[in-house]
Amino acid sequence: MLKMFHNRNATFLLLLCTIFLTWRTCHGGKILIVPLEGSHWVNMDIMIKALHSEGHSVDVVRTNQSWYIKDGFPHYKTITVPVAEAFNHDFVNPILKKIFHIERGESSFWTFASLQLEMFDAMYNIHRITCNMAMSMFKDEDLMNRLKARDYDLVLTDPAWGAGIMLAHALKLPLVYNVRWITSGEGHMAIAPSPLSYIPMTGSGLSDTMSFKQRFQNLLFYFIWQAQDGFLINPQYQAVCDEFFGSEVRFRDLLQGADLWLMRVDFVFEFPRPTMPNVIYMGGFQCKPAKPLPEDLEEFVQSSGEHGVIIMSMGTFVNELPADMTNEIATAFAKLPQKVIWRHKGEKPKSLGDNTLLVDWMPQNDLLGHPKIKLFVMHGGTNGVQEAIYHGVPVVGLPLFFDQYDNLLRLKERGAAKILTLATVDKDDTFLKTIQGVLNEPSYRMNMQRLSRLHRDTPIKPLDSALFWIEFVMRHKGAAHLRTESYKLPWYSYYSVDVFVFLAGALLLILITVLMLIRCLCTTRSKNKMKRD
Ligand SMILES: *[C@@H]1O[C@H](CO)[C@@H](O)[C@H](O)[C@H]1NC(C)=O
Repeated sequence: MLKMFHNRNATFLLLLCTIFLTWRTCHGGKILIVPLEGSHWVNMDIMIKALHSEGHSVDVVRTNQSWYIKDGFPHYKTITVPVAEAFNHDFVNPILKKIFHIERGESSFWTFASLQLEMFDAMYNIHRITCNMAMSMFKDEDLMNRLKARDYDLVLTDPAWGAGIMLAHALKLPLVYNVRWITSGEGHMAIAPSPLSYIPMTGSGLSDTMSFKQRFQNLLFYFIWQAQDGFLINPQYQAVCDEFFGSEVRFRDLLQGADLWLMRVDFVFEFPRPTMPNVIYMGGFQCKPAKPLPEDLEEFVQSSGEHGVIIMSMGTFVNELPADMTNEIATAFAKLPQKVIWRHKGEKPKSLGDNTLLVDWMPQNDLLGHPKIKLFVMHGGTNGVQEAIYHGVPVVGLPLFFDQYDNLLRLKERGAAKILTLATVDKDDTFLKTIQGVLNEPSYRMNMQRLSRLHRDTPIKPLDSALFWIEFVMRHKGAAHLRTESYKLPWYSYYSVDVFVFLAGALLLILITVLMLIRCLCTTRSKNKMKRD
């Protein structure tokens, strides 16, 4: 009798489990994604694949001129917004041309100033395009009603462009970021205390230990960033908010009010700094163990023998380096005993050596994980840097723009990379010497492998952590309890200036009263004394 009861109990439990499991997969969430183009999309796509395999359905907002975000994949559906202008090669190439021109000329204060102006202009236009896209969405009542009817669980966006932030507000949905950059700079700066004495501003090229002069520079960079946001970027978004949500809605509040910040760094890479409870670190979430290489590539890699292989890639944004520069690079590669795999589009350099293989595309992660790879020559994008850390491959960096120099600097500071500049890369064998320097000095590899061990030694993998927290926001309809409301305070309350002023005033009042009393006492006393005399 007892046994039968047990059996029946077990069957019942099994049934319950089955129901529970199917219920769980049936109740996958609905996620609306507003991504960025280029390399940012490359890592967002990896997250979307993971969300899809967890049983969530994903819709992706893109423009009708999308550069990287394509239609017709099983792991997401697209919502296409028609726009007159979009961010793509036509936008990036002229900027790159100008950067090459400016950086390779005489270096001076004017070089710096004209580069800054060029970047201001680019930033202004990027956000103008984004705002136009947002407005075209908000004006399309049909689209907005359809989005509302879909009843999404949350919006996941990359807040370097602000369209997703405003869309989440329009649809009244919880907001999660896949973030390193926000519209106004580095992500932490918007929500966590960020003393400029040890937190280097992006673009300053400074580390977390700064001399007086460097701290001065850091402050200047802070003002540059503030000015860029205050004059060029925030007003554009605020104008959209004014038009569609009313002027009491401040874009800055929407930006800072996100429920969760999935931050694409970890502290193996980033300098230590204050953070917030709703910041979850998922740096390197896109990294995975290497798969075997395609046969021809494996053959090429094996043919390198004991010398090993160097790989070079300048990332998704750069189609072409100037021809004289590629020639110089090819000449340098030809002098090395190593084999080289070079991701290069455009004309084939004349001085290309037999040891160098040009490719349109390469399985970067699988190559980096291959034991024969000795060195990674790269531009310093976040994705590539994280992959290099994950696989422990030392780096020679040739930064072009945005955050690339700063990313490489973090590796250099830890003795895992050397940095080249566009101005000197093709002069006096600099390229060759730098590469040989990293290859022949074992400390670079050892330091990088130490970073790799530190990065991998975590209780939960970054991607799993990110997925957990996205589902957490779905389950609890936001994560407001993790968010400080400090951003709603005016600056004088934030820094307690009002309290200090009050205290100082009160103290002054007491002091004056006491002084007056003493003076009164003194005068009555001296009067009394005079009377007695
Ligand atoms: C995208 O939509 C805009 C506005 O409707 C239109 O002018 C443009 O030709 C479209 N572009 C493409 C590539 O479909």
